[in-house]
Amino acid sequence: MRIFGFLGLLSAATLASATHLPPRNYTSHDYYAVHVASSTSPAELAAHLGLTYDGPFPALQDHHVFKAPKHENDIVDDAVQELKRRRRKREVGIEYHILDSVRFNQKQKLKPRHWKRSRIPERHDVRAKESNAVKAQREIANKLDIKDPIFEEQWHIFNVATPGNDINVTDVWMQGITGKNVTACIVDDGLDMDSNDLKDNFFAEGSYDFNDHEDLPVPKLSDDRHGTRCAGEVAAGRNDACGVGLAYDSKISGVRILSGDITDMDESLAINYKMDKNDIYSCSWGPPDDGRTMQAPGILIEKAMITAIQQGREGKGSIYVFAAGNGAAADDNCNFDGYTNSIYSITVGAIDKDNNHPYYSEACSAQLVVTYSSGGGDSIHTTDVGANKCTANHGGTSAAGPIGVGVYALVLQVRPDLTWRDLQWLTVMTAVPFDQPSDWTQTPGTGRTFSHQFGYGKLDAWAIVEAAKTWKVVKPQAWFWSPWMHVKKPIPQGDKGLASVFEVTEQMLKDANFERLEHITLTMNVEHQRRGDLSVELISPEGMTSHLSTARRDDEAPYGYVDWTFMSVAHFGEKGVGKWTVIVKDTKVNAQVGTFTDWKLRLWGECIDASKQKLRPIPTEHDDDDHDVIDDHPAHTTSVSVPASGTKTASVNPSDMPTRPVNQKPSSKPTNTEQAAGSPTPTTTATVTTTSGSTASATASPESFLPSIFPTFGVSKRTQIWIYGSIGLILVFCTCLAVYLFLARRKRLQSSRDSYEFEVLDDAEDDENARMLAGGAAAGRNGRRARRGGELYDAFAGESDEDLLSESEDGDAPYRDRDEPYDEKAAHKDDGSDAEGSNASGSSGGKRQ
Ligand SMILES: *[C@@H]1O[C@H](CO)[C@@H](O)[C@H](O)[C@H]1NC(C)=O
Ligand SMILES: *[C@@H]1O[C@H](CO)[C@@H](O)[C@H](O)[C@H]1NC(C)=O
Ligand SMILES: *[C@@H]1O[C@H](CO)[C@@H](O)[C@H](O)[C@H]1NC(C)=O
Repeated sequence: MRIFGFLGLLSAATLASATHLPPRNYTSHDYYAVHVASSTSPAELAAHLGLTYDGPFPALQDHHVFKAPKHENDIVDDAVQELKRRRRKREVGIEYHILDSVRFNQKQKLKPRHWKRSRIPERHDVRAKESNAVKAQREIANKLDIKDPIFEEQWHIFNVATPGNDINVTDVWMQGITGKNVTACIVDDGLDMDSNDLKDNFFAEGSYDFNDHEDLPVPKLSDDRHGTRCAGEVAAGRNDACGVGLAYDSKISGVRILSGDITDMDESLAINYKMDKNDIYSCSWGPPDDGRTMQAPGILIEKAMITAIQQGREGKGSIYVFAAGNGAAADDNCNFDGYTNSIYSITVGAIDKDNNHPYYSEACSAQLVVTYSSGGGDSIHTTDVGANKCTANHGGTSAAGPIGVGVYALVLQVRPDLTWRDLQWLTVMTAVPFDQPSDWTQTPGTGRTFSHQFGYGKLDAWAIVEAAKTWKVVKPQAWFWSPWMHVKKPIPQGDKGLASVFEVTEQMLKDANFERLEHITLTMNVEHQRRGDLSVELISPEGMTSHLSTARRDDEAPYGYVDWTFMSVAHFGEKGVGKWTVIVKDTKVNAQVGTFTDWKLRLWGECIDASKQKLRPIPTEHDDDDHDVIDDHPAHTTSVSVPASGTKTASVNPSDMPTRPVNQKPSSKPTNTEQAAGSPTPTTTATVTTTSGSTASATASPESFLPSIFPTFGVSKRTQIWIYGSIGLILVFCTCLAVYLFLARRKRLQSSRDSYEFEVLDDAEDDENARMLAGGAAAGRNGRRARRGGELYDAFAGESDEDLLSESEDGDAPYRDRDEPYDEKAAHKDDGSDAEGSNASGSSGGKRQ
């Protein structure tokens, strides 16, 4: 039986990888992505719902594509809801129904297009004067038999004007390391496979067009040049056309997604397309870099990425390289982009030919490395669309990313056995800091130098390949997650911050099989009337500070961070043990105020014992997956250190509720009542103090800190606070108690009724909860988990993740520009005549070129 099942799975998998899904037509049909229990036949489910079954997702286990002629309703969701309703009314029993096999369903919506991360390039035609460097370059070309006509212009490969300001690759090539046996996939607006410079290395099998649903990613629109240029940087051949790519003997494929509207389903399929054949995915695009957008990939895309990390390259993990983004001039920061701040992507920023920071390249704590691109009067010279066309004008972080891709292809030729994390480690250990003013800091973990602007420095192909030759593969990834830390306190304005501390003990990490840190992620909720005023720092036990978030002058979003996850690579190599302090600041002294609600720290790194380490479960819900993913670690008690000074002022009690934004957006996160349900005393569990040791500033500015409907009793503000604080506390406590009792009762009822509902608190857990309430913050986690379990069930049926997401992005106008035509003009700035920066926020056609 078991063998049978296994064979079934195997053949399903073979079938899946062997077949294509039929092309989608969003004009005539609606599409549904549905996660179905493996024991259920998708065809049977389709028959039940009157849908057409298109086939399985090639990579996502038990995920299937269904379609129906275009229709207003959400057929799958409506049916699931109806069943629920009938069960509630006892019209249907609890016995198994085929709809019970639906784990996740999402009707597909066309979504706003990503921005290509291009900038308006700079031109440089001055021929280099004869010099030793020019002679050296000619010698190298002779030795390597490079006859490509623009090789001498390719300063990023060998810089004759400023020797040393290049990728330092030629001695790697001399060793015969040119990307052989490695395939990079350019996920972009197409790839000109007929270009003389690319045709020999083009890999059709790894290519697809998700815009026109055809096999070959032919560039068709007039501005479909971006992907071809990126491809040239990686894999332009050694021949008589244009220049050479960094890995000129590698294979190059193209997946086209940027030239039309797509859905999350398409993007998810694209991002791990042929993950058994494509080794590296080059992504020079992302959400708008307008300094106002905060956008993360949807759940299907996230699942696809994690699947590729776990199964791509025969389990060593697909390599994702993302351009950092071009929004620096608009205060944008790559930690507001859920692609660049994923632990699974290598984020590459730009420097110009003089090692200066080009005005566009974003900084963030998630940025690993930088490399050369446009700025300072020159750009990247490479292949263009056309049989024998070249460009001297490729730029932006869009052009930096593919240089990284080329270098990683060289590394993988030498060491195909390296995992996705080894490539990140090697980058950390070999990137070269350079003499530019920045916040360069020697990191306690590795002794390497990190800057938020330049990551660990600039890529050096020779250094990373040499290091790779003898690199010892890292052990599998382990993780440790803190409980949810409930803070719920107003944030003081100005330089002061509101700090909250979580202490990680040696035992916690031991129990988590966790040896040393690589990434940290921090998920948080902050309510604020003007998101752009906020900034967040994280200080590690070893004293390293990550600037997780920075203020953004144009970010007017009238809410703060909703379950947003920030990431930092600045803590590679740290132990992780000790006090982690997060500090939230409201940098502007103005009328817009906010509250730090809660946070959860996640440490990711190398495990102690490889034989005991499991793979991370594929997340089952978007953003909020965190609240629900089953935690592998027992709950921990936080060591609560009592605030040193007079922080027990009234300003930290729950009566701050009246000062909350009145026009808060409806958020997908729980209400305070719900939050209190599992953890009646949340605020006592987190250690909260201000950095200055006083919270006076939190209440200093407004005349009356309460809306006028609240009587002031003619007493001082402090006393008012105290009065309302006490009343508030009592009310909150009573509500908590009532809700807690109600939920507990409902849960008990539900657990007997809906046998398929997940994550019901059992009695043992209840007891554990009660025990921990006395002890510490961990109670918050379990409380929240239990509540979220119930809530997810409802949310699941009611709203798709996308709804939740788009809701949270209301007000981010630029990302809604899907109706605007592509800005053809902006796309044709090939001659470098257009003004830079003019399309920083307006056009939907901006590429990270
Ligand atoms: C998609 O469907 C529309 C409406 O039925 C039809 O006119 C169009 O030709 C279809 N497109 C393709 C590529 O089949
Ligand atoms: C570049 O590569 C050479 C070996 O060819 C190496 O000695 C040198 O340290 C590397 N870095 C720079 C900045 O030249
Ligand atoms: C190419 O890669 C495959 C799979 O990793 C390996 O089996 C093969 O030996 C490699 N070929 C060369 C020439 O390196």
